[in-house]
Amino acid sequence: MMPRLNETYFENDMNNNQHITSLFRPDVQRLTGYIPGEQPQESGWTKLNTNENPYPPSPNVVNAICKAATSPLNKYPDPLVKHFRELASELFQVDPDWILPGNGSDEILTILLRSFVDAGESIAFPYPSYILYGTLAEIQGAKYEHLPLNTDWSFAPGAKQIARRSKMVFVPNPNSPSGNCWSDEELHSLIPEKGIFVLDEAYGDFRDSPHRGEFLQSEFGKQTVITRTLSKSYSLAGIRFGFAIAHPDIITGMRKVKDSYNCNSLSIAAACAAISDQPWMQKNKEAICKTRTRLAKSLSEFGFDVMPSQANFLWCTHQEKPHSELFEQLKQRKILVRYMKFEQAGPELNQTVDGLRITIGTDEQIDTLINALKEMV
Ligand SMILES: Cc1ncc(COP(=O)(O)O)c(C=O)c1O
Repeated sequence: MMPRLNETYFENDMNNNQHITSLFRPDVQRLTGYIPGEQPQESGWTKLNTNENPYPPSPNVVNAICKAATSPLNKYPDPLVKHFRELASELFQVDPDWILPGNGSDEILTILLRSFVDAGESIAFPYPSYILYGTLAEIQGAKYEHLPLNTDWSFAPGAKQIARRSKMVFVPNPNSPSGNCWSDEELHSLIPEKGIFVLDEAYGDFRDSPHRGEFLQSEFGKQTVITRTLSKSYSLAGIRFGFAIAHPDIITGMRKVKDSYNCNSLSIAAACAAISDQPWMQKNKEAICKTRTRLAKSLSEFGFDVMPSQANFLWCTHQEKPHSELFEQLKQRKILVRYMKFEQAGPELNQTVDGLRITIGTDEQIDTLINALKEMV
């Protein structure tokens, strides 16, 4: 019988062992790789670490997936995802050719980098923010610069200059991990002179007044791309569906870079059903915002500084208790929040910033967290 293949299979083949890893592109060899938040596979966790929506998606989503599952799965899906683009175009008040769907908004970010940024060119993004932008640049052989932030998360002097000279600027708005939104005026000052401005609105629906297409008609103009996800506000993290909104000249170019069938039949059905049920999304958003206010109040009472948030999570820091210890103590109680540490942050990019990012769960989950913190701090 053939032995089952394992790591030691080529042990005696010196040639293969020595050279195989050196065949990776040098950029990939140097790469640490993006480390996503923990996803424990066993039950019993109060999971507040990766900004998922605690509520299920619209019941119409499950019906649509079941229906799609009985459609001919031996056939490829619609490569242009026409139906979803029509629905999204209604919502955002743009033509359907302004929309490019993808396998989660992470895929859209990858397509953007691959479409516009050559090896050796430089991108920029606020720091701390979403670390994946830097990883995607590294994969591409591109460089990245951090846009410095003040302690109140406003842009520090110097940010504008760095942004202006970059090929692509990514700004998550609301930002993660802080949850704050920057004003249109601040954002406008970061548009690159000769480059693309990507406004990552993964948490855009949780804002008091979410952007619609009119934003792209404003002075932000043709070089701006908005990215959106259905993972958060529409409770579809497990489905993987996101999209870009931009001028058709940009969308047409990005389409050349994407996989032909980057969205599958089941995810397209789910996304169409989810985006069509706006009352369901709004109801969950309101519940999350209400719970967010309650949690922020409790955290303040426990001595945390809580950043005002327009997203489905809160960033908090404690004057006395080390954040990594709080994280571990919560984990021992099977409560998972996100401990985050950013080196070389601050206005001069020479400070260490750390804290806890807590996803807003159901009221019951947040009660579990509050009760644990009551014992701990
Ligand atoms: C700022 C930001 N952008 C994009 C994403 C990716 O979302 P998706 O699930 O659509 O890939 C995330 C996910 O956490 C995020 O925090």
